[in-house]
Amino acid sequence: MYDRHPISAEQILARLTKARGSLDSLQAADLFDHDQDHYGGLAANDEIARCAKLRTGMNVVDFCAGLGGPARYLAHAYGVHVTGIDLNANRVEGARDLTLRVGLSDRVTMIEGDVTAVPLADASADVVVSQEALLHVPDKGRALAEASRLLVTGGRLVFTDWVMHGAIAAADADLLWRGLAAQSLQSISGYGDLIAVAGLQLEMCDDLTVTWGDILQTRFAMYKALADERRAAGMAPGEDEFYNAYSALVRLVETGYLGGCRFCAVK
Ligand SMILES: C[S@@+](CC[C@H](N)C(=O)[O-])C[C@H]1O[C@@H](n2cnc3c(N)ncnc32)[C@H](O)[C@@H]1O
Repeated sequence: MYDRHPISAEQILARLTKARGSLDSLQAADLFDHDQDHYGGLAANDEIARCAKLRTGMNVVDFCAGLGGPARYLAHAYGVHVTGIDLNANRVEGARDLTLRVGLSDRVTMIEGDVTAVPLADASADVVVSQEALLHVPDKGRALAEASRLLVTGGRLVFTDWVMHGAIAAADADLLWRGLAAQSLQSISGYGDLIAVAGLQLEMCDDLTVTWGDILQTRFAMYKALADERRAAGMAPGEDEFYNAYSALVRLVETGYLGGCRFCAVK
């Protein structure tokens, strides 16, 4: 699905070239309006950093890091080292390219891999973060167990994800799977149980449903505009299934079945 996603490194660079005339002397901050593939942009990263109690020099692992937007922002704004892991080879390649272009390769490393089998050592991270991505992972308990394994004692896992507030119809679950690769969605309490089983203590859980509901409408409009932009640039506009699923998402949030939550847990 992410090979056909409306946001890509290629599309970000095309936009920046158009806006700046060239890609010379690109700074990390030039990317921040374009490379954050989650709701709430940089403010959401700052909330994650606050909950994680980030301090300069910490080692952070970003699960499902995408194009590396949050990883670069945390390295740039908080002076941490971030290892981003993503399953999609094009995402990893795009993230590396963007990171190199803004001179952050010494502090942001991207690895291609699965968050349910992370190729990093036990107790090698002070903090594990993840934003709006575990919805794609079939075995969320396994991903949380991996986060727990990577953390030092006292380290924190802070993540946001879509959650179910009520059982959704099989037809809607199918739409979300086919268009957004969303699967085995959890309730807030279901995530609480998985966090405990992973050996972590839940410190905080903030229901973000209202905030995300507002953002969702704008985001949907942006995706439609991006599809038009891609068409005009001669690229494939993306899949109808993506837009159908996004439209279902808007409806399910409006009717109270789906929402978002930020979890913070300590080892
Ligand atoms: C919505 S994007 C979020 C990107 C990033 N967290 C951000 O906020 O910009 C979700 C990412 O999860 C990745 N992903 C999905 N399943 C994964 C898995 N099992 N292991 C690692 N990455 C995965 C996808 O390739 C995609 O890049």
